[in-house]
Amino acid sequence: MAVTSQPDVLPPVAVVGAGLVGAGWAIVFARAGYPVRVYDENAKIRDSVMALIAGNLKDLKSFHLIAESPEQVLGRITVQADLAEAMSGVAYVQESVFETVAVKTKVYAALDLAVPPHVPIGSSSSGIPASAFTENCKTRARMMIAHPVNPPYLVPLVELVPAPWTDSNQVDAVFDLMKAVGQEPIRITKEVEGFVLNRLQGALLNEAWALFKEGYASAEDIDKTVAAGLGLRWSFMGPFETIDLNAPAGVADYAQRLGPLYHSVAQSRRDPKAWDPNLIEKVEAERRTHLKAEDLDARRAWRDRRLMALIASKAKAAKDLGS
Ligand SMILES: NC(=O)c1ccc[n+]([C@@H]2O[C@H](COP(=O)([O-])OP(=O)(O)OC[C@H]3O[C@@H](n4cnc5c(N)ncnc54)[C@H](O)[C@@H]3O)[C@@H](O)[C@H]2O)c1
Repeated sequence: MAVTSQPDVLPPVAVVGAGLVGAGWAIVFARAGYPVRVYDENAKIRDSVMALIAGNLKDLKSFHLIAESPEQVLGRITVQADLAEAMSGVAYVQESVFETVAVKTKVYAALDLAVPPHVPIGSSSSGIPASAFTENCKTRARMMIAHPVNPPYLVPLVELVPAPWTDSNQVDAVFDLMKAVGQEPIRITKEVEGFVLNRLQGALLNEAWALFKEGYASAEDIDKTVAAGLGLRWSFMGPFETIDLNAPAGVADYAQRLGPLYHSVAQSRRDPKAWDPNLIEKVEAERRTHLKAEDLDARRAWRDRRLMALIASKAKAAKDLGS
């Protein structure tokens, strides 16, 4: 792949599926200087995506998170209605269509033919492994998961997960590209449902539902435990480093002191339950007392601005204090 070899004349990359996540990816590549071809099968999405991206770029500019003007970044993005045309001459493809095996299988059959050979294709899939929808592709060795966090232009992590048949050189190439565009890629060595991020998130969510169900705390207070507690540290260090610092002699000391407690907690959850519809109704009702359904979009925009402020302050703290 020649994605990063000619920094002065960057080749186009393509984004397939331009919903929430695809539109976010377009910003990631365009702000790094890549011409971006955006393809979506839905004409309404094609007609509206540029306005959405323009609004996001304006917010990024107001937090000094892009150096160029929003118009300069937007000028690198084109929306295309024809898949083959959109794929011609691209150096990388990021797929972000619906999270179903059926839709992804259909899209990968088309990409197999339309994307120039040896050009890597990363899927934004949140948890379906690439082997579930690339098995029958002739060029499956260049296909893998490149799972972002939403929105990818604010949250940099990307999980790279190969299928058993993915060429490791292709994973290396996508790793380098992700670094080059300012993302934080990690390598998952083999397929596992939910990858790492959603397995960690799932563990927390499953425990949150269980605690709520058993009446230990309101949804609001469980949320507060993360927002005003655990989450503050998690914005700059992970669980292993956290416990390494939370016992005088480090992680082994922590494990000796608190390992038995965590083991006992884990044993109390040996019979995981599906999320119960009645429970979902209760949490939905509690959430709607705090946030009306019609205000969800406004709150999402607020969340993104909070994230922008946090990222700006993290960058300043890393400069002042070191990372
Ligand atoms: N929303 C998140 O928080 C999040 C985070 C990380 C990863 N993802 C993953 O990213 C992917 C996209 O999710 P989203 O939230 O952007 O969904 P979305 O519904 O907002 O967007 C999906 C887009 O794909 C388009 N599409 C569907 N079939 C297509 C086809 N055959 N050809 C071209 N375009 C097609 C749709 O028109 C739609 O615009 C999913 O795999 C999802 O799991 C989502």
